[in-house]
Amino acid sequence: MTANHQAARRVRLSTYLGTDGIAIIPTAPERQRNRDSDFLYRHDSYFYYLTGFTEPNAWLVLTSEGRATLFCAPKDLEREIWDGYRLGPEAAPAALGVDEAFAIEELDARLPRLLENRSTVWYPFATHKGLESRIDGWLSAVRARVRYGALCPEGQRDLCGPLDEMRLVKDAQEQDTMRRAAQISARAHIRAMQLSARMLREGKDVREYHLDAELLHEFRIGGSQYPAYSSIVAAGANACVLHYRADVAPVRDGELVLIDAGCELDGYASDITRTFPANGKFTGPQRALYELVLASQDAAIAATRAGQRFNDPHDATVKVLAQGMLDLGLLDANKVGSVDDVIEQRAYFPFYMHRTGHWLGMDVHDCGSYVEPTQVGEVSERKDPLSNEVIKNRPSRILKPGMVLTIEPGIYVRPGEGVPEQFHNIGIRIEDDAIVTETGCELISRGVPVKADEIEALMRP
Ligand code: GLY
Ligand code: MN
Ligand code: MN
Repeated sequence: MTANHQAARRVRLSTYLGTDGIAIIPTAPERQRNRDSDFLYRHDSYFYYLTGFTEPNAWLVLTSEGRATLFCAPKDLEREIWDGYRLGPEAAPAALGVDEAFAIEELDARLPRLLENRSTVWYPFATHKGLESRIDGWLSAVRARVRYGALCPEGQRDLCGPLDEMRLVKDAQEQDTMRRAAQISARAHIRAMQLSARMLREGKDVREYHLDAELLHEFRIGGSQYPAYSSIVAAGANACVLHYRADVAPVRDGELVLIDAGCELDGYASDITRTFPANGKFTGPQRALYELVLASQDAAIAATRAGQRFNDPHDATVKVLAQGMLDLGLLDANKVGSVDDVIEQRAYFPFYMHRTGHWLGMDVHDCGSYVEPTQVGEVSERKDPLSNEVIKNRPSRILKPGMVLTIEPGIYVRPGEGVPEQFHNIGIRIEDDAIVTETGCELISRGVPVKADEIEALMRP
């Protein structure tokens, strides 16, 4: 991505700001891990989308006329020796295409003057701790000058609205970066699968963290900066814990391993889950459940194309899973009725309790409304059969080419009354990343196979 891309986005965003509007976008703060050590720094996604700038201590101010002002850390030889290179405000306009740049220390002095005579100030609501009070302080300073004829902005608007809409549809460069991120992650999954089978064949004590290390290795070898989220490497029953992390549990011969891991490449996430037999060979019950989840994913993929709704893949998944749960005896038709009853009453919920996907982009759970913006007024109410809560529904988003989402059905079987023992403690999820196209979707994460036979084949010696 070049500075021209970000400049074009700033111009586009400026058209949303109305007459005399102004937008303020900070990057993310550095976060302390312990004493004088910080967490590895990750920029704010909105800020990066508009600047391509990854240093901390930076703010962007954008006017409705399209004028971009950057505040950033000044050059400082002493600090740069310790903390690394800084672009500095002198070089920023040429490097980033902004109109002007100042040292971050000038932010409080300059912001009131930039806000003066503006109608509306836009900023991302509820995303940066303390941002509202900083803006309040600057507005107070403007107000102090009204007797000299200055006008103080009267409106405050949430910048997430227009920015989320822009980010929701990925352009060709973004899609290309996401394809490359998914390819790296796919290779990492293959490596982790192969390591698991190899170590077990060699009689070694395999732990979840061994597989995590293999993922990390491939992410970094591929040029990724870091994992897009905390990798889940869940052996055996741990797969039934949805937000499990890669931990110390043994990876046992005969059990399944669920890995949900994806790298971030140049600011863009990938998000892949595969579930595989630790030793490379599915047992009968494992394969039966695996084939069911895969069939439900196939149905979701078939429902993913421009013109379909965001909820359609989920509904398609649930239909297949519900029928499969009846067929495999996870649900008893004498108790729960037909497949339509299972869906209506959400009887599948103990085994499938999450949605089938989410937007994917710079953030792993990317921004973007899940409601169709042209139909926000069409509210319908229904009572949730499990909680009895009245839920307000709005028509879900109509998919467009360039939107990117995950397709990630699963099944999680905790031991319980009437649950066939052969399925106890099996947790399976299969997750792929899809770019919506006119006629269907492009699965960008299929560099790692998904069919049971293909997984077994790649894990053979
Ligand atoms: N890895 C997070 C998710 O699948 O949503
Ligand atoms: Mn996901
Ligand atoms: Mn995931």
